[in-house]
Amino acid sequence: MSSKRIAVIGTGYVGLVSGACFAYLGHKVIGLDIDEGKIKRLRRGEIPIYEPGLDRILEQALDRGNIEFTTDYEYAVKNSDFIFIAVGTPSRDDGSADLSYVESAYRSIARHIDNEDFKIIVNKSTVPVGTGRWAKEFIKSLLKEKGVKDPEERFEVVSNPEFLREGKAVEDFMKPDRVVVGADNRDVAGMVASLYEKLQPAMLITDLPTAEMIKYASNSFLATKISFINEIANICEKTGADVTVVARGMGLDHRISPHFLNAGCGFGGSCFPKDVKALIHTAKEVDGEPLLLESVIEVNERQKLKPVEKLLKHIPDLSGKTVAVWGLAFKPETDDMREAPSIPIIKQLLKLGAIVKAYDPVATENAKQVFKSEIEKYGEKLEFTADRYSALKGADALILVTEWQEFKEVDFDKLKGKVVIDGRNIWEPSIMKQFCTYESIGRP
Ligand SMILES: NC(=O)c1ccc[n+]([C@@H]2O[C@H](COP(=O)([O-])OP(=O)(O)OC[C@H]3O[C@@H](n4cnc5c(N)ncnc54)[C@H](O)[C@@H]3O)[C@@H](O)[C@H]2O)c1
Repeated sequence: MSSKRIAVIGTGYVGLVSGACFAYLGHKVIGLDIDEGKIKRLRRGEIPIYEPGLDRILEQALDRGNIEFTTDYEYAVKNSDFIFIAVGTPSRDDGSADLSYVESAYRSIARHIDNEDFKIIVNKSTVPVGTGRWAKEFIKSLLKEKGVKDPEERFEVVSNPEFLREGKAVEDFMKPDRVVVGADNRDVAGMVASLYEKLQPAMLITDLPTAEMIKYASNSFLATKISFINEIANICEKTGADVTVVARGMGLDHRISPHFLNAGCGFGGSCFPKDVKALIHTAKEVDGEPLLLESVIEVNERQKLKPVEKLLKHIPDLSGKTVAVWGLAFKPETDDMREAPSIPIIKQLLKLGAIVKAYDPVATENAKQVFKSEIEKYGEKLEFTADRYSALKGADALILVTEWQEFKEVDFDKLKGKVVIDGRNIWEPSIMKQFCTYESIGRP
């Protein structure tokens, strides 16, 4: 495989992992971010996010001189042929995707494209269907404005949505289920596909809007599976069935598959909630009525507060009671707090007068940012502890929100006499009942 020159715009979860992995595969990568602090840390060899395995990949890439970091767009654009965009596309208040970071990246790139150049601009950010074709016109107009000759000949826009999961991002990048490349120009799509040659992935080459839609449809389907099993869990609870066994029985059917059928206190993260909301927005814009997708969000919002509802059955008045919360990140193996179920759970507990002692193995610093106003408002009533058992000291109850491995191997004696709400079904009810008042999700 020949080495290619790649710039990655945005060094967050997706940009840093993709950049490091491309460099590990032998390409020459420039990682760019507008966050100077982040770039300074990366240049010192520090990784600003928690992502298992990333340190090893990055270290090797740095040792081989295959990756460097900059805030200088001119340097990145001039010294690359492929420019991947991996900046955030958060939700706006109306649910639509905020494309201002993407637009700003296009502007900064266009500023440095000149006559004789040919740059392949690849969207790895999740962007609504239609964005790629719009980007082509937008960049063309920017180049025209600054007097570039034959502007449409100077670049091509490609969609290459990313499917990696935080916590398993390196593994997912290196062993993808599939790589999707969408472009109006098939030759250019082939050039982007060839960057992944070494991985020998299942490759799907298609047009721009179809590639963009594949990403939204995939995430929305997975979110639907979660809301579906949570709804089944709620019915199980009222009927004496055990949702974990129901899910196992369903998952043995290869048409269903066992994945994403774990009942719990809802999904969070930077992708599922925002991508489902953005697809709802797109559907409404084109005159659709996305009833199913709207229900997926509605079921999830309610599910997040299930642990508090369950706790109130056992301790109807929480004022002055101490509740330990284990797990703050939206899922294990990440420090990402975006849309984490722990957020509404802790806010609700504080509102009901409880004293909250929260613990997470890696997300505490990010959590302190998220709960800044609660820390100000509630003072000592919200404490972040350095380990799991300190959170339990003097606690009347425990809510397990995120299923980190260390919570599975617990000293059950420490839970004696407490109300334990297991929001992820990680413990065995028959064992737990010997130690505490135990409730889980969708199990008798
Ligand atoms: N996080 C995931 O698991 C995941 C998975 C698949 C796809 N995605 C998609 O990938 C995109 C990026 O997500 P993320 O989680 O990596 O975001 P992130 O917030 O972790 O990182 C985005 C980075 O872009 C930088 N940035 C913002 N504007 C910039 C600009 N104009 N120029 C250069 N850098 C800029 C930010 O400083 C930040 O470091 C989103 O569209 C997301 O939906 C995310």
